[in-house]
Amino acid sequence: MSMARTSADFNKLLKTLSARRSVRRFLDKDVEDEKIKALERIFECLPSSMNARPWNVFIIRDREKIKELGRRLLAVHKYSAPVLNAPALAVVSVDENISKNHFVEDASICAFALWLALSSLGLGAVWIAVCLPDSEIREEIVREFLGLSKKDRVICLLPFGYPAEKPAKRAAAERKFLKVL
Ligand SMILES: Cc1cc2nc3c(=O)[nH]c(=O)nc-3n(C[C@H](O)[C@H](O)[C@H](O)COP(=O)(O)O)c2cc1C
Repeated sequence: MSMARTSADFNKLLKTLSARRSVRRFLDKDVEDEKIKALERIFECLPSSMNARPWNVFIIRDREKIKELGRRLLAVHKYSAPVLNAPALAVVSVDENISKNHFVEDASICAFALWLALSSLGLGAVWIAVCLPDSEIREEIVREFLGLSKKDRVICLLPFGYPAEKPAKRAAAERKFLKVL
């Protein structure tokens, strides 16, 4: 592969990464079925521990249901507010029986890929933290709402839709993250 080609791919990747932002306000416009269906294709490309592919991603598009789940979460977590005005909601879960030691990493890879995919489809989304090291209260709320069992670990929600806001320009990195030894 030539240098020029490598650099074009890298620039394309940087553009995709940099275009993804946290979008917390959404237009009152439904997300098309084709865009939802297209998402299925990303999961088969993802790495997972032991290649177990333990993910279950639920998409909810009933706005009343989304609001109700948003209200329940908001009662215990103020940063869940973006859920309330979303026309669509992805719930990223993994089966802990399939991925015992690495469910957090497996789920995070899945959620981030989904976030990038949504952004590439022109949709805005934000990560709403659900899984915590010291409390399962938010997970319990989501599990109860969806009728999931204890083995289903819910890592995060991604409320999504057409963006109604343009996030402020990113702050420049305040330090070097890469330490070349
Ligand atoms: C693990 C994780 C948890 C997050 N939790 C929340 C959350 O609960 N609510 C929220 O509004 N944003 C949440 N965010 C979004 C971050 O605030 C956001 O990614 C960060 O400010 C950088 O902005 P950007 O996504 O536009 O680049 C979370 C992001 C990550 C990666």
